[in-house]
Amino acid sequence: MAIAYQALACQANYPEFILSQRYFFNMDICNNPPSPAAMSNKKNFLSINTSLWRFCAAPMLDWSDRHARFFQRLISRHVRLYSEMVTTGALLHGDRARHLDFHPAEHPLALQLGGSDPAQMAACARMGEDWGYDEININVGCPSDRVQNGRFGACLMAEPDLVAACVAAMKAVVRVPVTVKTRLGIDNRDSYEELRAFTAAVAAAGADALIVHARKAWLKGLSPKENREVPPLRPEWVLRLKADFPTLPMVINGGILDLDQARGFLDRLEGVMIGRGIYQNPWLLARVDRDLFGDPRPLPDRHQVLAELIPYLEARMAAGVPLQAMTRHILDLFQGQPGAKRWRRTLSENVHRPGAGIDLVWRAMPPPPAETSVITNLGALDR
Ligand SMILES: Cc1cc2nc3c(=O)[nH]c(=O)nc-3n(C[C@H](O)[C@H](O)[C@H](O)COP(=O)(O)O)c2cc1C
Repeated sequence: MAIAYQALACQANYPEFILSQRYFFNMDICNNPPSPAAMSNKKNFLSINTSLWRFCAAPMLDWSDRHARFFQRLISRHVRLYSEMVTTGALLHGDRARHLDFHPAEHPLALQLGGSDPAQMAACARMGEDWGYDEININVGCPSDRVQNGRFGACLMAEPDLVAACVAAMKAVVRVPVTVKTRLGIDNRDSYEELRAFTAAVAAAGADALIVHARKAWLKGLSPKENREVPPLRPEWVLRLKADFPTLPMVINGGILDLDQARGFLDRLEGVMIGRGIYQNPWLLARVDRDLFGDPRPLPDRHQVLAELIPYLEARMAAGVPLQAMTRHILDLFQGQPGAKRWRRTLSENVHRPGAGIDLVWRAMPPPPAETSVITNLGALDR
């Protein structure tokens, strides 16, 4: 009964979710029953266990491009993927297809927008929905100078009413969820009360979820990289925010490096988002489907993933994408495995050479374990 109710509640809001994930979500309830504390609040229980955001790969400029996302999707069917930030200016005046195109296998996929003009944000949200994205996310977390000059990113934490106006304008024109990715605060505007006021404003405007990078940002004096490392993480603030906004789906981000850590949040929050941990160790995704979604299918195999990636590489190369633009995302595929160093070195040293093609990928690949017969056969065919 409870499961049927959850499925209905979910279907009403997010038909795309129900189509792709109902089975596994039900499995998850069976395999990972929520804690009594989480179940004691019925609304929390429903929202936490029907969440679209249970496990997300973070938006990362230059790192979460379509090639990286396609590769990650081959490892996990359930991870929710986020695009790199795309500015409203780039979409309204630039090459839309270049910024928005993706492979259908990437779903569920969110588009992250950078901007602060409500009308432009609405126009771009609409464009994203029409292009097929499953969610539109607003970047209120990036502290770079370029982004500050454009009056968007983390500096918008000082303008909750403007962010709320963007959310409201976007919600008025799209059906997919509109979400906000934010920090705990900026500069000296870093009290919990200010974070709560910001959250209240975006929640009242209709935001469907809040993703919180659980550290503040310094707008002057720290580089974007330092701003991802120096300010201390305060996950307890996100949990407190959840207690203050029990019906607003909340996703925690920042410094999470493995699934045990992720799981530790999942009976109290709707989701976890990981950025660098996935990019630098993509095989972290291999257990996500089974461990966090109860998917009973066999765990993926590195060679199998590569065999599935190769036709994609060939197709994109035929469309003019340099091989190196794609192989840079897969250098850590064999991390910790025999042959990992050779794989990395062979690719990095040769992919720039004229004529480098798919045979280089085959050449770099560590020998498959004997039982991986599909690969052995494929390898024999293609080498
Ligand atoms: C190379 C790089 C680029 C990033 N670009 C974006 C971005 O475009 N939009 C955004 O909201 N956050 C961006 N971030 C921040 C991440 O989304 C994430 O919030 C941050 O890395 C903390 O999570 P982690 O500790 O799991 O990596 C970027 C991070 C990195 C490392």
